[in-house]
Amino acid sequence: MESTARLIIDGKTFELPVIEGTEGERALDISDLRKETGLITLDPGYANTGSCESSITFMDGEKGILRYRGIPVEQLAEHSSFRETAYLLINGELPTEEELNRFSEMLNDHSLIHEDMRSFFENFPRRAHPMGILSSMVNGLRAFYPELPQRNEKEEINITFTRLLSKVRTLAAMSYKISLGHKVVSPSHRLSYCANFLNMMFDSPVRPYAIDEDLVQALNVFWILHADHEQNCSTSAVRLVGSARVNLYAAISAGIAALWGPLHGGANQAVVEMLQQIYDNGGDPAPYIARAKDKSDPFRLMGFGHRVYKTYDPRGCIMEKMCAKVLKKLKRKDPLLDIAKRLEEVALKDSYFIDHNLYPNLDFYSGIFLRALGIPLNMFTVMFAIGRLPGWISQWKESIDDPQWKLHRPRQIYIGPKERDYIPIEEKS
Ligand code: CMC
Repeated sequence: MESTARLIIDGKTFELPVIEGTEGERALDISDLRKETGLITLDPGYANTGSCESSITFMDGEKGILRYRGIPVEQLAEHSSFRETAYLLINGELPTEEELNRFSEMLNDHSLIHEDMRSFFENFPRRAHPMGILSSMVNGLRAFYPELPQRNEKEEINITFTRLLSKVRTLAAMSYKISLGHKVVSPSHRLSYCANFLNMMFDSPVRPYAIDEDLVQALNVFWILHADHEQNCSTSAVRLVGSARVNLYAAISAGIAALWGPLHGGANQAVVEMLQQIYDNGGDPAPYIARAKDKSDPFRLMGFGHRVYKTYDPRGCIMEKMCAKVLKKLKRKDPLLDIAKRLEEVALKDSYFIDHNLYPNLDFYSGIFLRALGIPLNMFTVMFAIGRLPGWISQWKESIDDPQWKLHRPRQIYIGPKERDYIPIEEKS
C-alpha cells in the first residue's frame, strides 16, 4: 500500500513517500528532503535511520525474530551447516547438493595461506590482540590475491568470497598456534569446514586431536547464529568503507576492527571477564546489578541489552541450550555458567532491567560455550568474526550491486565556533 506523510515546515507542506518492506516495516523516504526543504535529519547512533533496502536478513526486535533470506535461524541451527548457511546468505537460496559440493571443493582449494604471510605473524608482538592481527592480515591478503575483476565473472567472484571464508578460518587457527610457539597445522581435505578449524587449533604431534562430531555440530550452530544480523555496527562499517569502492579485503578488515569493540562482538570476551570477576569476588551478582543501574558508574552488565531486541535475543536462547549440551557431552561443569544463570535470574526480576527491556543477548552465553570448546579468551571475538564473514560478504555484495548505490557520506549539524580570524602564535598570550 503506497502512502505519503506530510511534513509542515514554516507553514509549507512537503510530501514524503512512505515505503513498506516485505514484513510490513514502514519508513519515510527522505532521500529528497534536503533538496526540497534545505533540511537534513539528525539521528545520533542512527537508531531511527534505515541505511539501505536489503533482502538478506529480517529481524523483529519486539518479537525476537531472526531470519536469513526468510528462513528462521532456529530452523537453520537445527538442520543446516555453517557452510550451507554461508551459501544461502551469499547466494540468496539454499544450494542443491551439487552446488554445495562445489562450494566445499572451493573452500578446500582456497584454504592454504601463502607461505610469505607467515613472516607477518612473526613480527607482531606476542601480546598483540588476535582481532588486531586478524584485521591486519585480512587487509594483507589483498597484497597476495587480486581484487574482484572488473568483468564481474560469477566464478571469479565466487572464488574471491570462498577464498576469504576459507582463509580467515585458517589465519585464525594459525595465529593461535604461532602465539603458543607451536607448529602450524595445515587444513585437511578430509575434514569439513568446522572440523578443520578445530583440528587446526588443537591438533599437535604429541597429542593428536580426536574429532568429536557433536562438538563439530555445536560449532556449526555457533557460527550459524553469528552469520548475519542486518545493519549492525560492523556490517555498517563494511558497507560504509565499501561504498568508497575499496577492495573487499579492506572493507572486511574494517568490519573486523568494528566488531572488536566491547559494545559489539568484543562483548563475548567482556562477559566472561565479568563473570570471572563475580566468581572471584564470592559469586554474588547483586553488587554488579547495583553498579549497572548506577548512572554515575560507567559499568554495564555485559551480555545484556540490544539496540534492536527489546525481548529475548533468539540467538541467546539457542546459545544457552548449546552451552548446557556441550558441557554435558564433555562431562564438565563450569562455575561461570551457574553465575550467569544467577545473574540472569536476578536481573530479569529487577525493575530497572524490566523497564529498560534489557534481556540476555547472544554474547551472554557464547563465551561459556567457547570456553568449553577450549577456545582461549582473547580469541572469542575472532570466533564471532569467522561466523559473521558470510554476512559481511553478502551485505557488501548487495551494496555494490544496488542500483541506488551511493558513497556513504552523512551530514552533520555544526555546533562549533562561528567564523573568526586566525591569530598568529606570537600574538597569543
Ligand atoms: N547494563 C545496564 N544498563 C544498560 C545496558 C546494560 N547492559 N544496556 C543498556 N542499558 C541502559 C542504558 O544505560 C540506557 O539507560 P537510560 O535510558 O536510563 O539512560 C538504556 O538502557 C538504553 O541504552 P543505550 O546505550 O542508549 O541503548 P543502545 O541501544 O545504544 O545499547 C547496547 C545497545 C548493546 C550497546 C547496550 O545494551 C550495551 O552496552 N550492552 C552491553 C554490551 C553488550 O552486551 N553488547 C553485545 C550486543 S549483542 C552482540 C552484537 O550484536 O554485537
